[in-house]
Amino acid sequence: MESGEMKLVTLHVNGRPFRRAIVPSTTLLEFLRDEIDLTGTKRGCDMGECGVCTVMLDGKPVLSCLLLAAEAEGAEVTTVEGIARGNELHPVQEALVAHGAIQCGFCTPAMVVNAVHLLERRPAPTREEVKECISGTICRCTGYTKIEKAILAAAGGDSGEGGKEA
Ligand code: FES
Ligand code: FES
Repeated sequence: MESGEMKLVTLHVNGRPFRRAIVPSTTLLEFLRDEIDLTGTKRGCDMGECGVCTVMLDGKPVLSCLLLAAEAEGAEVTTVEGIARGNELHPVQEALVAHGAIQCGFCTPAMVVNAVHLLERRPAPTREEVKECISGTICRCTGYTKIEKAILAAAGGDSGEGGKEA
């Protein structure tokens, strides 16, 4: 960590307050991963291009690598760790597992955050809406088809062929 002036911030993450002294340039992503050990949110490009650092800020997806931690003060931050309820997975998470939509898993936390946000707004989304919802997150492994099917299945819709890769 660079030397110099530190800033005291309190962030509310997954329903709990976390107070830390940080350098002012600390991003929200760095705060989550390095200050409070919530490593579910991934660091990819650190430039706003890959989407894997997505979290919710007051219920809306944001790229945590592009936001300063101090800018999130006063807001509620939700990470993938805040989406499951204890040991009980969210239906989106269950569907991703059931459809074999997780390979290396690097993109999965962001996919989950985006899908949960979509289903909160659109409980019965179309395939196009699902595609659009996950279009900002790069997946190097799955080709997206299984992820789309899983999200449609979580919404109670027709998931197609139950996990067969196209
Ligand atoms: S790490 Fe934030 S968009 Fe890539
Ligand atoms: S499962 Fe590997 S990047 Fe998506």
